[in-house]
Parts: sequence; C-alpha cells; structure tokens
Amino acid sequence: MDMLGMYPTFYVPAIGTAWVMGIIGVIHVLASHTSVGASFLFALLETKAYRENKPQLLDFVRKYGMFLLVFSYIIGSITGPGIWYAITVASPRGVSGLIHNFVWVWAAEWVYFTVEVIGVYALVYLIGKVDAKTHLKLSWSFALASWATMLLIVGILSFMMWPGHENWYQTGSTNDAFYNINFFAHLGTRTGSMFVMATVVGLMVASRIKDMQLRRSVVRFLTPIGLVGGLFAVMMFLYYLQTLPSNAVVMLNAYLLPSYAQGMVAVFVVATLWLLFAWWQPQHIYTSLAVVLFVFIALVGVWPEERMRESMRKPYVAGQYIYGNQVIARDVPGKGIAGEVDRIAEKGLLKLHPFMPERLRVIDDSNRLEAGRLLTQVACANCHALERGAPLRNIPDKFHGATDEDLIAAYLEGPLKFGMQPYMPRIDLPPEEVRAIAHYLATVNSGQNVDRLIAERRQAAAKVAMQKE
Ligand code: HEC
Repeated sequence: MDMLGMYPTFYVPAIGTAWVMGIIGVIHVLASHTSVGASFLFALLETKAYRENKPQLLDFVRKYGMFLLVFSYIIGSITGPGIWYAITVASPRGVSGLIHNFVWVWAAEWVYFTVEVIGVYALVYLIGKVDAKTHLKLSWSFALASWATMLLIVGILSFMMWPGHENWYQTGSTNDAFYNINFFAHLGTRTGSMFVMATVVGLMVASRIKDMQLRRSVVRFLTPIGLVGGLFAVMMFLYYLQTLPSNAVVMLNAYLLPSYAQGMVAVFVVATLWLLFAWWQPQHIYTSLAVVLFVFIALVGVWPEERMRESMRKPYVAGQYIYGNQVIARDVPGKGIAGEVDRIAEKGLLKLHPFMPERLRVIDDSNRLEAGRLLTQVACANCHALERGAPLRNIPDKFHGATDEDLIAAYLEGPLKFGMQPYMPRIDLPPEEVRAIAHYLATVNSGQNVDRLIAERRQAAAKVAMQKE
C-alpha cells in the first residue's frame, strides 16, 4: 500500500516541541533583532560623528559592537542552527515544504548573513584604522546586509501564516509565496521593534560610559529612535492583525488576547517610560536598572509575541496546507501535492504511516493501549502535551479528566472528524483508531501508569504467542 510521506514523531513530554522551538526562537529573536537594529544605530551614529566631527561617538560604536560580537552574534549563531534542528524534528514536512518554496531565498539570506558577520568584525576592528569615510560606507553596508537577512526571513515566516491569496496554490511560485498578504505588515512590525531592542540594549552599554558628556549625547541620540521605532512597531502590528486568516482571528480572540494583552500593554508602557526617563536623566541610567528592564522587555514582550504567532497559525504549520500534525490538509496543484485527510479517514494512520511498528498495524485487545498512545502522539502531540497538568494545552485537562471512553470518542467523531474547530486540524480516523485513542486518553485520565500497563500487556501477548507456537 502507498504510504504517506510522514516522518517519525519527535515527542517532548510536557512542553512539546512547540515550546522547545519557542524558547530557542525567543533567544534568537532577541539576539538577531538587537543586532539588526544596532547595525542601523551604528550607521546613523557614525554619520552624525562624521558630519559633526565628533570622533568620540565612535568609542560607543566600538564598545557596543564588541558587546554584540560577544553576546548577540555568538548566541544568534548558536540558536540559528538550533532553530533548524528543532524545526526539522518538530515538523519535518513543514521544513520540507518551506525548502521547496524558498531554497534560493535561504541561499540569498546566507550570503547576506556572511556579509553581516564579516561586517561586524570589520566594523569593530577597523575603527580608527581606516579613514572615516571608508568606515562609514562599511557601517551602512553592514546595516543593509543585516536588514536584508531580516527581510528575507520575514517573507518565509509570513508565508507560514498563509499566502493570503489563491494564486500560490495554483502556481506554486516563490514570488507568490514570498509576497504574501502579511509580508509588509510583518516586516514593519519587526523593523520597528528591532529599533526598540537595539536601544534598550544600547542603554545597557551606554550605562557603562563614564564620560557624562558623551553618555548624554549618545543616549539623547538613541532614545528618540527607540521611541519612534516602538510607535511604528505598534502601528504595523495593528495593521498586521488586519492581514490574518479567520482561524487566527478566532484563536486570537478566544485564547491569546485574554492571556497576553495585559503583558503587551505593560511592555509598551514600561519601555516607553524607560526610554523617556533615559532621555531625561542620562546620568541616572544604572547598569543594573538597564539590565532588569532589558530582561523584562525581552521576556514579557518577545515570548508572547512568538507564542502568539505560532499559536495563531494553528491548525497549520505552513501556508495553510500542512497541518501541525504533519498531515497535508489540501491539494496544492502548483506543487503537485495532494491532500491526505480523506485517505487517512479511509485507510487509517496505522496502515499509512511508514514508521508504525508492524505489531501495531492491526489493533486488538492486547495492543490497543500502545497503539492509542502512538496514534495520539502522531495525531495530537504537535500541539498538545499528553501528561495531566502539563503546560502545552495538555489533552487530559482539555477533556476535564474524563475517564469515559465513549465521551472522548464522541469528541473525536464529532468536532475533530468534521473539522469544526477552526484552530484544530480535521482529524478523521477509522472507528478502531478512534477507540484506541479514546482508550489511551481515558487510561491516562484515570491516573494509571500507562507505561507499566503497556509493558504488561506486551508481555502477556508475547506469552500467548509463544504458547501458540
Ligand atoms: C495543529 C494543532 C492541533 C492538533 C494536531 C490537535 N489540536 Fe486539539 N486543540 C488545538 C488548539 C489550538 C486548541 C485550542 C485550545 C488552546 O489553545 O488552549 C485545541 C483544543 C482542543 C480541545 C479542547 C476543546 C476545544 O474544542 O477547544 C480538545 C479536547 C482537543 N484539542 C483534543 C485534541 C485531540 C484528541 C487531538 C488529536 C486527535 C488534537 N486535539 C489535535 C490544536 C490542535
């Protein structure tokens, strides 16, 4: 029988691959946005230094550049490949889909990234060694190359949300994928916020400047850029919200805004006050204070933003055609891709998934629990933890701890089968697979030790098989 092009499921207990990705992603966003934002601050500051003949400003550029080299670039270069590892195991088909759309975009991004990395070294080490005008050109090239990496990645990230038009499904062309409906809004939001990040980090560096005259001129230069960047980011974010698909809007109103809205407002208010304060009292920006505010803005600002973007995309992982659980949701004629939901409904995941152990392909009383566990991991675990009380929208709590198999099966045969929840995939499985999942979930909810039960049942089955021989 023809198998689906599925890969093994990588299951991370409690937090799921979603949070692993989220944590790495947040660190990466912090490092990368700070660097890109800072590259523009350098270029602008250097232009000022050059025009007004204030070479002492370059001292700050060198200090901040060194800080970036040691922190941002190292952390960014570790978490960047970290994201690749994480998404490849979390969502192999999602990654494959993106590579099949964007391979040359990524190639271009790596070229710009190389320019960027060489640029930051050159920038820091050539200050005072080449003439000011040459250095200024270097700084602007560094800034543009840095922003180009962001621009290219944003095209890919915003396609993950959705193309926003039917063209791409018919043409499969990279342009239709890249210039999707929320590309500009997304790019604007990140561009604005990179100035905020770079300014907040810049204040940490500036807090170390002993010469108050210099510190004042640097801080008074940076903070307005941060404030304008922040305002721009908020406006672009509101525009971004208008470019979202309807499933994202449902998710946003039902789950995300209630839990994240306060934090977002808090970050906006705190960051604005902090920048205004720094502008007003540059001599009173202490390093400890600057660090605390950086951590607050980073955690309360970036974590919800990244989590929201991931959650809003549900049930899809990319382009509204690959579900989070790796099943292809619809036909994409432009890429020669066929939807799989109906095939799975007819034949079942146990038969069609290439990585199912042979002993689980046909369900009986002895392996129902184990098959149920594996099916749940394959069908649900990309979005749900399977342990009670676990943080990633765990299924036992979603079923309110129900131990009634029929009740759980009814949910699978109703809302899930017909795709009635806009944020969940349509999961239509044959009756025996539904029963297996319901049996497994009911067993988990009853508080029994599932691992031990599975081991016991396998032993008993092996015994019976031996006796038969
Ligand atoms: C692509 C992601 C995804 C997959 C796969 C998925 N779910 Fe969900 N599910 C969600 C989201 C998102 C919610 C909304 C709740 C939240 O965010 O806290 C949800 C909610 C639920 C709820 C709460 C009731 C409701 O309708 O809101 C139940 C029960 C549930 N899921 C069961 C399952 C089961 C069982 C599976 C596997 C057979 C599964 N889900 C697969 C994303 C998913």
